[in-house]
Amino acid sequence: MIGHLPLYRRGALDFMTRCAREHGDVVALRFAHRRILLVSHPDLIEQVLVTQNSCFQKHFALRLNPLLLGKGLLTSEGDFWLRQRRLVQPAFNRSRLATYAPAVVAATHRLLNEWRPGEQRDIHIDMRRLALDIAAKTLFDADAGAEDAQDISRALEVSGENFMARFQGTIPWPSWLPTPANLRLRRAVRRLDAILFGFIRQRRAQGQSSTVNGGGRGDLLSLLLRARDEEDGRGMSDRQVRDEAMTLFLAGHETTALALSWTWFLLAQNPKAEQKLFDECNAAVAHASASTNASPSFDDLARLPYTEAVLLEAMRLYPPAYVIGREATRDLTLGGFPLRKGQTVLMSQWVVQRDPRFFDEPDEFHPERWLDERTEKLPKFAYFPFGGGPRLCVGNTFAMMEMTLILATLAPRFRFTLAPGCIVRPAASFTLHPAPGIPARIARR
Ligand code: HEM
Repeated sequence: MIGHLPLYRRGALDFMTRCAREHGDVVALRFAHRRILLVSHPDLIEQVLVTQNSCFQKHFALRLNPLLLGKGLLTSEGDFWLRQRRLVQPAFNRSRLATYAPAVVAATHRLLNEWRPGEQRDIHIDMRRLALDIAAKTLFDADAGAEDAQDISRALEVSGENFMARFQGTIPWPSWLPTPANLRLRRAVRRLDAILFGFIRQRRAQGQSSTVNGGGRGDLLSLLLRARDEEDGRGMSDRQVRDEAMTLFLAGHETTALALSWTWFLLAQNPKAEQKLFDECNAAVAHASASTNASPSFDDLARLPYTEAVLLEAMRLYPPAYVIGREATRDLTLGGFPLRKGQTVLMSQWVVQRDPRFFDEPDEFHPERWLDERTEKLPKFAYFPFGGGPRLCVGNTFAMMEMTLILATLAPRFRFTLAPGCIVRPAASFTLHPAPGIPARIARR
């Protein structure tokens, strides 16, 4: 009756990997009444995300509950999405990225000040708090107070659970039904709305005229409020700004926190890589100090190629978005398989990025592979932690800048050893979480 759902629910990562390795690049599955195609070859993934992307839209689970993200970038489609993408994209251009960098370094120092050598902490919790702190500052120029931060984390968990329940559910219950899960989500969204509309009202009331970066506030929310369409000169309504801000906030900070957590987890088990990272970051800090900055800044990013390689490799092995989906909007064929309108294609970063056809020693952590010609020869979609095509992650350069600066600020000062006996395993929920967390002891460098 419910097809492959029990196998998927029992362990999505293993199940998808087994399907691809044992049955090939295109595997037909059924989740209750839904027909699914698991596609695991880079060329076919390119077809879905790039060449034939006009034949697809985001998959059903993202559309089922518009309460949280509304018509934000992640979930909208067609001309509306394109217009919004044009309005939001400039907030992530290179010159803007440079203005967010000081907030990243300052937040990292705030966290560092709390750490005491020898103590045991959950690195994942710390990375979540750090990413939240940075998102609040760069998006809203706000300090995520303890209470707001807790509410936001809670709301995130509730919405993640709700998404998974929909994705893996057998009956597509409408979101207006007062089920306990829907009521929990409603409460969480009400709280997030109160926080976000509060920021928007405040900004409109101040006429956004304040100060940062010499003219106009420099946070992302202000950019969204000021953004005007080139063609018709129109801006966004408060509701649309809310949807975009909520989307950037939710899509941005959890994924970044996860990529960082997995990076520390891998470094703790790879002392040679950790030493190389330390050497490079230390040199960058020394260079920064010589030019009166106490920490690496945006201008130092070019001096941190190994640090970037460490992050790329961590996202290869533990991609925060471990699977993405699309729904066919018309009948077509893919890899010789007929795909009917309404059917879903799943493409898993976890599966493809560990495929031995494309990566030698695919389960090993080798940051060096990103620094030699090996990865230049890769098919384009053998590695796609940020998706690809027109719907490529709008925050990918922001995320890379943020994570590189965090590593470069932390690595020269501290290192981690995993708590004895702790077993960390990847848990495939909405994103790829470390379960039960990453308990680690902190040592000063
Ligand atoms: C390591 C960090 C991140 C990872 C791994 C990641 C991953 C992804 C992936 C895989 C997609 C494509 C989803 C799809 O095609 O179905 C995506 C889209 C998106 N991401 Fe990210 N992301 C990260 C950081 C960020 C940040 C920092 C922001 C914003 C501040 C952000 C905002 C978005 C938005 C708005 C979209 C939708 C874009 C569109 O459809 O036009 N992400 N992300």
